[in-house]
Amino acid sequence: MVYSDPDDHVRRQLRTLQRVVGNPTDAVLARRSGVAAATFSEVMSGKRRPRAEFVAKVISGCLVSARVGGQAPLDEPNLLDALRLPGHTAADGGILERDGDLSRCSVVLDGVRARAGAAIVVEGVAGIGKSELLARVCAEAAVRGIVPLSVRGNQRDRTTAFGAVRTLLGRWVSGRGAEERRTLFTGAAALARVPLGIPHPRSSHPAAMIGLTEALYWLVVNATSLVGPRRPAEALLLAVDDAHWLDDESLNWLEFLVDRLAGLPLVVVLAYRPHEPAPALTRIALRANEIVRPLPLSQDAVRILVSRGLGRRGAPAREPDEAFCAAFRQHSGGNPFYLRWMLSLACERGLTPTAAAAPEVGDLTPRHVVVYLNERLGSLGDAARRLAQTIAVLGPGSSLEHAARLAGLPLDEAKRQYDRLCRAAILADKSTVDFWHPIIRGAIYDDIEPSTRSDTHLAPGPST
Ligand SMILES: Nc1ncnc2c1ncn2[C@@H]1O[C@H](COP(=O)(O)OP(=O)(O)OP(=O)(O)O)[C@@H](O)[C@H]1O
Ligand SMILES: [Mg+2]
Repeated sequence: MVYSDPDDHVRRQLRTLQRVVGNPTDAVLARRSGVAAATFSEVMSGKRRPRAEFVAKVISGCLVSARVGGQAPLDEPNLLDALRLPGHTAADGGILERDGDLSRCSVVLDGVRARAGAAIVVEGVAGIGKSELLARVCAEAAVRGIVPLSVRGNQRDRTTAFGAVRTLLGRWVSGRGAEERRTLFTGAAALARVPLGIPHPRSSHPAAMIGLTEALYWLVVNATSLVGPRRPAEALLLAVDDAHWLDDESLNWLEFLVDRLAGLPLVVVLAYRPHEPAPALTRIALRANEIVRPLPLSQDAVRILVSRGLGRRGAPAREPDEAFCAAFRQHSGGNPFYLRWMLSLACERGLTPTAAAAPEVGDLTPRHVVVYLNERLGSLGDAARRLAQTIAVLGPGSSLEHAARLAGLPLDEAKRQYDRLCRAAILADKSTVDFWHPIIRGAIYDDIEPSTRSDTHLAPGPST
């Protein structure tokens, strides 16, 4: 099987859509999509990968362009068909074997028009593919004209009250004009400014009697219900990834909201690891309209991934051997994260997918992947290792300046090391400082000496 990079296909589709909606310039489309102009041009010129969140935002931006340009509403089923979002078929190089899960989510999204508010829960162990699925649900929502807002929980912000809600709604609210904002915060929603960090106009409004959780609920009701001359009501998708790391206040708010979805054009989708349960998450799952549990990948999918992963270096053009694939399936448990890293390890060891090499797959288990990750980090040298370990302790979203200071590196050097760590697929090349995957952060964090860990934890925060 010949490996083909799906990214160009996605870029071509987005360009087609851009033309269909009246050919706004890149700068205009980037603004309407809520994407930085520089990011837009880097992705579209092939310097960066078009991640699913990016695709969702740009589709959203295209739909806004169509609306602003006074075009007739786009025929969404046709549009979906024409776009064939990555992930819908194994052949396009996207995610594999998730069509059934995605279809169930799509049925829920289709109910939004009839104001059938609903909750979807995505449950699964680390690396099974929850985030990939969530990103595609966001893209599917965008195609249907539903605005996807998303947030990811992380260990560092767990103690910041309403931190996740602030990220989820705050940016979207601040993007509205003054008049729209006034509408959003009318009535019982007035107090919702407080958790969102927006100054409250001087008033002795009775809303002061209402709790913050309820006020935030009314903000969402206003956002999805109040129709003004300049502002149509919005259907929303609230996508919460890594919900097991959410702060308690945000989680309680989501539970409050999920209890009151009926009649709202709103879908809440939460993804979490079930072995790290919070009572509120368990209760939300009990009330969810859909519970999606992505399954381990089958041997057929493993064969495709082995073929792509080990065929890429121009090695064998023939199909990988069944015994080799069976060994991969067995030792990875069909977990896509471990599969991908085991493949990368196999590639480095020059393994060919033959029956003779099948016994060697036993040396590529998830435990080996963790050791390998730390070896790979070690091979990048002391400065890269110190930076990665510091970022692992500080958590995602920390500032590079702060991490550089704690790691004892000049900022320029830290930037250089950051780029090297991105090229090694340890850190992620995106707008915030983060690891390529939470499992990588966990593996690197667990390898740090406890005393070094607590020194970094206890170090003073970034100066503001
Ligand atoms: N169905 C799939 N087919 C092929 N690759 C997949 C599939 N699902 C996920 N992947 C890949 O596997 C890796 C892990 O997926 P993902 O990050 O979605 O896992 P996760 O369940 O969110 O993990 P965590 O709980 O640690 O956040 C990613 O590289 C992703 O691209
Ligand atoms: Mg995830």
